[in-house]
Amino acid sequence: MTAASYQALTDLATVALRAAGAQPFAPKAELARAVGLLSGLSFSGEASPRSHGAVERYLKPRAVRHRHAGALLDTLLETAPAIDWIGGESGYGGEPDMTEFCANYAFCALAGPARWATGCSAPSDEVGFNFTVQGPNVTYPDHAHKAIELYYVVSGKALWKRGGEPWVERYPGDVILHTAGMRHAMKTADEPLVAMAVWISDIQSGLVVVRA
Ligand SMILES: [Fe+2]
Repeated sequence: MTAASYQALTDLATVALRAAGAQPFAPKAELARAVGLLSGLSFSGEASPRSHGAVERYLKPRAVRHRHAGALLDTLLETAPAIDWIGGESGYGGEPDMTEFCANYAFCALAGPARWATGCSAPSDEVGFNFTVQGPNVTYPDHAHKAIELYYVVSGKALWKRGGEPWVERYPGDVILHTAGMRHAMKTADEPLVAMAVWISDIQSGLVVVRA
């Protein structure tokens, strides 16, 4: 049952990313690679769910006008109780000034390196497939990784910063590409952000917070 839910989420993700690739100025090659990698995933095993305060507080039903993003939110809500949610503290617990972030941020890995892929999640050496929940008035500070990453906004909105570009507000259905090593940051205001993140290269690479 849960494996089927994970598969349904993945199928919706491929539909959403394929549709996004038809938009002008979309990062078509990266989206096509993500679709190909996600299409190759299969899920099995038993769920080993674990919740997190950020998920309890901020992953809520809401009206999402974008069709594909709305479908993803609905299915994520149905699947959420069977997901192993990981708090921000597991990645940033040792970082200074990130206590607030850690308490209000969670993610899950539906596919990725074996150390993240518990329960029904699919171990993969090629693709990291995650959903993230970021509470309101939370800044995910500048960070960078070698992995090429695509974000897809599922619900809510956030200000997004890529490299030296200005902050840009992003909405459900928007795709944001982070190229290898590009620093990026996300800042919420009054609304929480639910997003999908897909790593399409170098998924074993580490992540660093950039403070200078
Ligand atoms: Fe990232």
